[in-house]
Amino acid sequence: MSSAPHIPVLLDEVIAALDPRPGDVIVDATFGAGGYTRALLERGATVHAFDRDPDAIAAGRAWPEAQGVPPRLVLHPRRFSEMVAALAEAGVAEVDGVAMDIGVSSMQLDQAGRGFAFSVNGPLDMRMSQAGESAADFLNTADEAAIADVLYTYGEERQSRRVARAIVAARPLATTGELAHVVRKALGYRAGAPKDPATRSFQAVRIHVNGELDELEAGLAAAERLLTSGGKLAVVSFHSLEDRIVKRFLRDAGVRAAGSRYLPAAEQPEPVFTRISKGIRPSEAEIARNPRARSSTLRHAVRTAAPAREAA
Ligand SMILES: C[S@@+](CC[C@H](N)C(=O)[O-])C[C@H]1O[C@@H](n2cnc3c(N)ncnc32)[C@H](O)[C@@H]1O
Repeated sequence: MSSAPHIPVLLDEVIAALDPRPGDVIVDATFGAGGYTRALLERGATVHAFDRDPDAIAAGRAWPEAQGVPPRLVLHPRRFSEMVAALAEAGVAEVDGVAMDIGVSSMQLDQAGRGFAFSVNGPLDMRMSQAGESAADFLNTADEAAIADVLYTYGEERQSRRVARAIVAARPLATTGELAHVVRKALGYRAGAPKDPATRSFQAVRIHVNGELDELEAGLAAAERLLTSGGKLAVVSFHSLEDRIVKRFLRDAGVRAAGSRYLPAAEQPEPVFTRISKGIRPSEAEIARNPRARSSTLRHAVRTAAPAREAA
């Protein structure tokens, strides 16, 4: 069981966007191996770090900053969609920055026992939080149409029905190796072809099992509520489904809210985010150092003083 350390992605760019100052209170919504948190602590910030994976939180508890009185690192073993309630319980109503680095960590991917990867055989699990419905529970009980839907929506698998039919015919599935075999066979994959078609199905099942896109939407809305005026948001995503959500959230946040039609344009409510960046991609040098950075995109923005939107 290997667990290569997670190399933080777009670290310099994320820290530049958050521009942390000593005494700032910053949320690291996805602690992982704590790469962003480490850099934020080094800049003198207090960090509230979230992770739904108990293993990630357990590793963070050993950090000296988590033991101080008061601690400069406060760990929350929760989903980041619960950020507002968790911080209220800790007596924090607003923060100066929120970082989100969406997706799975290298530790999760590389540990066969977590069942995220088809490159290493393991139980068909894929639960970041190590609780709730596993990938095997879903694939062994859902009806064919529901499985096809997940593969199509979250994996952009064009042959979703064919793959779902093959999965149902092969049930029960217990391991990542079995799932990969069934998908490859259904799609006529030959070893050595440039892209393994199992990639799309694994992504889809993982996103479904962890409710990842709903979590992302809720996390962005929570950040909007928590950030103080001038507070910074930095979000790194790993595939187009996620990036589309972040891009749309910031686009909508960057226009004036529809206020009263009786108010002159200049008095309409301000946008809730400003200085919205374009998608920032890793340099070739970073990709060479860390191939997993290849598909990442960072978007960042600055919170205005306008009230958070209703839905947020
Ligand atoms: C890509 S890693 C973060 C790596 C981190 N930035 C670092 O430098 O080490 C993503 C982490 O976020 C966690 N995670 C993903 N979705 C989450 C959610 N909705 N709530 C809390 N943690 C989540 C995963 O368990 C994983 O540990």
